[in-house]
Amino acid sequence: MSMASRCVVRGSINIDEFFHVKEIVRRGETISSRELSRRAGGKGANQAVAVAKAGGLAVGIVGSVGEDGRWVVENLKDSGVDVADVQIIPESTGRAVIQLADDGENSIILYKGANYASHPMKSIPTGATHVLLQNEIPLEDTLAYLESAAEATPSPVTIFNPSPVPSDAEITNIPWHIISWLIVNEGEASDLCNSLSRKPADSTVPRNGEAPFVENISVYPTLLRLSSYMPKTNIVCTLGAEGVLALVPSFRNITAPITSQPELILLPAIKLQDGVIDTTGAGDCFTGYLVAGLMKLHDEGVEFQREGVVSILKRCIQAAGMCVQRRGAMESIPLAKEVDEAIA
Ligand code: ADP
Ligand code: NA
Repeated sequence: MSMASRCVVRGSINIDEFFHVKEIVRRGETISSRELSRRAGGKGANQAVAVAKAGGLAVGIVGSVGEDGRWVVENLKDSGVDVADVQIIPESTGRAVIQLADDGENSIILYKGANYASHPMKSIPTGATHVLLQNEIPLEDTLAYLESAAEATPSPVTIFNPSPVPSDAEITNIPWHIISWLIVNEGEASDLCNSLSRKPADSTVPRNGEAPFVENISVYPTLLRLSSYMPKTNIVCTLGAEGVLALVPSFRNITAPITSQPELILLPAIKLQDGVIDTTGAGDCFTGYLVAGLMKLHDEGVEFQREGVVSILKRCIQAAGMCVQRRGAMESIPLAKEVDEAIA
């Protein structure tokens, strides 16, 4: 019997402060802001909220904020995220100070604050079936979660969105092969591939010519190469307005050699009615919906098949497409109901 799915996000919680200015401030200059808005943010928090919005699933976040972040924790709770493991410490909450200029340009100062403080929970809590990680907390904590997940029985599904991209040295030392799902955008895929190319691959994934539909996807060779460093890991690469390309070795016939080609899924993005309004949070929205989809498959006891993954990805694409047509990050993540109505 399998237990009901429960997702644990070990990640960042931020306060995003937006200053609306005519032009980005120059060195030595003092300018005034027309407006100041404050919003809850951080990739960990955004993705946890996306899992919750995607449909009545159990999701909790493990992280730290300062006293100034109590309202953010309340926001997360109101969105359906379990905040029992958020600690409040004598540090400033992680903060992004964002200047938004009239011409659409922006510049950001990031203060890691409480996100980099030590947290008492050093490994995955019992009952976690899915573990979702990004890279806005100390990498050693992220790795401790990945490793404790790999050692647990049954082993929870791990989903890693390595954003912002770790340093070269860090990339070389991450145990990529124990990650179930890697979620990257094109830039992240290239950066990882460049760093990993300096060490020998775990396998040689053949570049066969059997997939003409990916010929125009410039990041495809990079992903194939990336896959050779983590032959069992499912890799999902978001392609902005081009949609998504996934390499899913999990479908591989058990008897097939590891060197066989991972199964490919290429899906187009949705056509935007109102054009792009604000892409912030689109990647986080996509990731949260993906994890929610995996959790539902788990709860339904459905066999892991291509069809199921295609329909999960379609829902991610719809949700992320709606997200880019709305202002903001966390608040622009649509509810499951809206997504399902749009797909129907
Ligand atoms: P990130 O924001 O993390 O760099 P992407 O830019 O790849 O990630 O966007 C994530 C997802 O958001 C895409 O896979 C796509 O589904 C959706 N998306 C982004 N930009 C657009 C767009 N211009 N039109 C439609 N969908 C988009
Ligand atoms: Na948005």
